[in-house]
Amino acid sequence: MPLLGLGYLSGSWLGALSVCRIAGVEDPRLAGSCNPGFSNVLRLHGRWLALATLLLDAIKGMPALWLAMGLGLAPWAQGVVGLSVLLGHSYPFWHRFRGGKAVASAFGVMLVLTPWVALCCALLWAVLAWRVRTAAVASLASAGLAPLASVWLAPDYVIVVMAFTALVLARHMLNIQRLGRGDEPGL
Ligand code: G3P
Repeated sequence: MPLLGLGYLSGSWLGALSVCRIAGVEDPRLAGSCNPGFSNVLRLHGRWLALATLLLDAIKGMPALWLAMGLGLAPWAQGVVGLSVLLGHSYPFWHRFRGGKAVASAFGVMLVLTPWVALCCALLWAVLAWRVRTAAVASLASAGLAPLASVWLAPDYVIVVMAFTALVLARHMLNIQRLGRGDEPGL
């Protein structure tokens, strides 16, 4: 239980808000897609602030996961700790439960739990973002790849990775609607 609290609290610290506040630039919740995540920071403020956001959102859940692994928790229990990080990022109580889409935080969580799956997803994300220039397409495809890759690369974690994918897809509902209408903003 304390690990779930630690996971939720660390996840609910939004890297994008700290980075933009420190850099003295506009809050990403007020422009672009209004998402406090690295894609919107990239769109609004360029690659360096986006990279810093990505790094912070990816590493913030790692201490809780290292503890879960160090304590010898079963894979499903480690996955629940990971899910608490993603829920914190998506529904941070001190931002009135309005958080991000959990892509970078899921990447960080998977980097600890299922590193090869995380790297495959990151590679697909980078290739699609470069070719299609639409972050949501890259994120949705990577979220879809994660459970498939887990079957082969991390079979003990398939169920928890499916839960991560379900959350990421749920957080992209507006993007999916915009993609359907053809007015999803590019990068
Ligand atoms: O990583 C989030 C991405 O999938 C979508 O972000 O800002 O384009 O809605 P955005």
